[in-house]
Parts: sequence; structure tokens; C-alpha cells
Amino acid sequence: MSENAKITLEGKEFELPVVTGTEGEKAIDITKLRDQTGYITLDVGYKNTGATTSALTFLDGEVGLLRHRGYSIEDLAEKASFLEVAYLLIYGELPTRQEFSDFDNSIREHTLVNEGLENMFKVFPTGSHPMGQLISMISALSLFYPKSLNPHRDTDAVNRTMLRLMAKMPTICAMIFKKRNGHPIVYPKNNLDYVSNYLNMTFSQVTMDDYTADPIIVDAMNKLMILHADHEQNCSASTVRMVGSSNANLYCSVSAGISALWGPLHGGANQEVLEMLEMIKEDGGNVQKWVDKAKDKNDNFRLMGFGHRVYKNFDPRAKIIKKTCDDVLNKLGVHDPVLEIAKKLEEAALTDSYFVERKLYPNVDFYSGIIYRAMGFPTDFFTVLFAMGRLPGWIAQWQEMRNDKQPIARPRQIYTGPTERPFLFFDQRS
Ligand code: CMC
Repeated sequence: MSENAKITLEGKEFELPVVTGTEGEKAIDITKLRDQTGYITLDVGYKNTGATTSALTFLDGEVGLLRHRGYSIEDLAEKASFLEVAYLLIYGELPTRQEFSDFDNSIREHTLVNEGLENMFKVFPTGSHPMGQLISMISALSLFYPKSLNPHRDTDAVNRTMLRLMAKMPTICAMIFKKRNGHPIVYPKNNLDYVSNYLNMTFSQVTMDDYTADPIIVDAMNKLMILHADHEQNCSASTVRMVGSSNANLYCSVSAGISALWGPLHGGANQEVLEMLEMIKEDGGNVQKWVDKAKDKNDNFRLMGFGHRVYKNFDPRAKIIKKTCDDVLNKLGVHDPVLEIAKKLEEAALTDSYFVERKLYPNVDFYSGIIYRAMGFPTDFFTVLFAMGRLPGWIAQWQEMRNDKQPIARPRQIYTGPTERPFLFFDQRS
């Protein structure tokens, strides 16, 4: 039975259709609200606005549940490879053996980047942030593939762009890593799987041919990338959709998504968490002092890696990451004192009424940095690793938006500035 919502404005009643998702989520469809009533809705920060329907990811923040195309994040993290999850997000189903092999081979074909791209490192200032470099390099890819500029091209051409982007992202991330260390770039080895190839380009040296990525690290990296692969309409995915809705090409849409991700309230939080934990350690390790600072409304300090717009229960990704963190550090025999601080901080916050009342739990970024550090990554590289994992999600969101033929995203506003007034010449202004 179709349901309608009724609203009364200025004594007149209007009916608006209700849309129900496959998991029973309900929305009032306000597409025609302004035409019918002259009113718009106001929801700064989109706290209660569905910007799209989507068949990619379902999450229920009240119970801490996350599924991609119906598969639980726990199952995917435990049983799938990152590339299988990428395929699932982009093409809608888990691949058969043959489909996976075709996908994997196509990605292996495109791992090299044009040597011209390396010239960009000549203009980046020494020590510049890897995320700034990544944003520039991913958008520059569109200049090397001018045919990709038109997203209306045939399906094969669009598919090739998606594969190229998946293939070149690890190569570019590894180039950024090598260049920041002043080391020569290591080329892709296409006999290696996606994650091992990335680790090889990052940690092997051109002067030595005996590097083999530690299977513990390959496994943890696969898991971390799966846990970051998509998260429905978050700030960066919405940015990718918004930019793509103007018919901008995939490379530039994703580059815009990477920009959104860089912010410390979004993916940039993983860098901030580790810097915060280090600061607490340097300060003597008194976690209660920092919990109190986070609660103080006159203090700008927040507990980084805590809280989430949609999770009002444990972030299921954080649960898996916390366990992975313990496993990886144990297996690698790494003792990192900030892990102890992180656990104490978590305990102090989770028993504090301020955090309990506001339902603030550790999020995906709280423990991930400790694992990245144990793997050998510097702090300012953590968000690059988040971006590499999130890539299939951005591609799938962009593609879904295009396949659904969504219109250009263009919100409205309520104007609060001055009403019309006459222009004043300099000597008339006070
Ligand atoms: N520390 C202290 N107080 C907090 C925190 C925190 N980390 N997060 C939220 N609060 C308080 C906030 O001050 C507010 O209190 P009050 O109701 O008294 O004004 C209340 O909790 C609600 O917070 P909000 O800022 O209105 O919530 P939001 O949905 O707009 O923001 C958030 C969500 C993730 C930006 C925020 O929780 C935050 O800044 N967290 C720290 C940054 C972080 O870890 N970001 C990574 C998010 S997960 C990775 C990703 O997917 O991007």
C-alpha cells in the first residue's frame, strides 16, 4: 500500500509521497515540495537529508551494522580480498572465478603511469603533504587520458577509465612515498597481487631484488582496505557524486573526493589520532586530562577518532580494526606504547557520561593509524591509505549516480543577508 506524508502550511494540507528502502528505511520525497507549496526544506550539514537512493551500502548506525550489496562487513573482511570487494561494489555482485580473473588481469595491464606524471614532483615543495600531491596527481590523470573527459562515452570507455584508476592509484601512492624519501621509484611487478604489488612498490628498493611483503602485512592491508572501501553518503562520496553530477570526468570527481577526505573531521582524522596519542604520551600519559579537555566547551580540543555522524553504537569497522591491531602488533612483535594509551583513552571515554550520553564511540580511524605505523608508514601518509581503500566506493558511487541519470546537484538556500539597498559612493559611506 503506498503511503503519503501530510503537511499543513498556512492552513492548507499537502500530501507528499513516502519512499521505502529494501531495509525498511523511510523518506518523505520532497522533490515537488517547492512547486506545490513554495517552501523548501532546511537541513544544514545534511543531518537528516537523503541525497539519493543507492543500492551499494546499507548501514544502521543505531545497531552498528554495515553491509555492502547485502554482504556483512565482518564476512567481507574475513573472507574476501580487497579486489573482490572492489568488484562487488563496482559491478553489483561477487565475481565468479572467471570474472575475477578478467578484472584482476585488466587492472594488472594498466598499472604503469605515464612518465610525464613524474615531472609533477619537480614542482611540489619538499615535505609537502602526500594528500595534496595525491589530489593533484589523480586530477592530472585526466590530462593524460583526454578521451576520459567525456563521461557520456560508451560503456567500454567508461569501464576502461574505472580500471585505469583502480590500477594506477597504488602506483601513484607508492611514487609519492618514494619521492618523499628521495628514493627512486619502483615500477609495478604485475605478477604480484594488487596489495602485494603496492607494498612492493612502496617498501622494496630498486637496488635490491629480494623484498617480499610479509604475509601478515599483506593480510592486514587487505582487511584495512576492505574496511574503508565504501561508507554510503559520507562527505567524500557525496563530493564525488556532486562533482560528477556536472558531467565532470571520473578522475577529477575522485580527486575532489580525495580533497574532502583530507579534512581532519573525515579521513584526515587517522593522522590526527596518532598525533593526539603521541601528544598525550609526551605529556605524561594522563588520559583523564585529555578526556576532560574534550568535554570542555571552551576548549577546541576533540577526541580524534571518536564520534560519528551516523553511528550511535559501536562503529563495526572499529571493532574489527581494534582486533586486527592487537593481532598485527603481536605477530610482528611490535610494542607500541601509544596502543596502551589508546586503550586507556577508550576506556576512560566509554565510561564517561559526556561520551555515553552523546553516544560517542571509537570510529574507523581510532586504531588504524597504530597498524599503519607498525607496517612502516609515516603519520602523514595514513590518509593516503584511506583514499586507496575508498577508491572502489567512490567509483561505484559516481557510476551509480550516472547510471541513474541523476540531475546536477544544486541545493537551495535561505538568504539571510541585507534586502535591496541603493549603491553608495565612497564619500556617502560611513
Ligand atoms: N570529542 C568530543 N566531543 C565530541 C566529539 C569528539 N570527538 N564528537 C562529537 N562530540 C560532541 C559535540 O561537541 C556535540 O556535543 P553537544 O551536543 O554538546 O554540542 C555532540 O558530540 C554531537 O557532535 P557533532 O559535532 O554535532 O556531530 P556531527 O555528526 O556533526 O560530527 C564528527 C561527527 C565525526 C565530525 C565528530 O564526532 C568529530 O568531530 N569527531 C572527531 C573527528 C573524527 O574522528 N572524524 C572521523 C570520522 S569517521 C571516519 C570517516 O568516515 O570520515
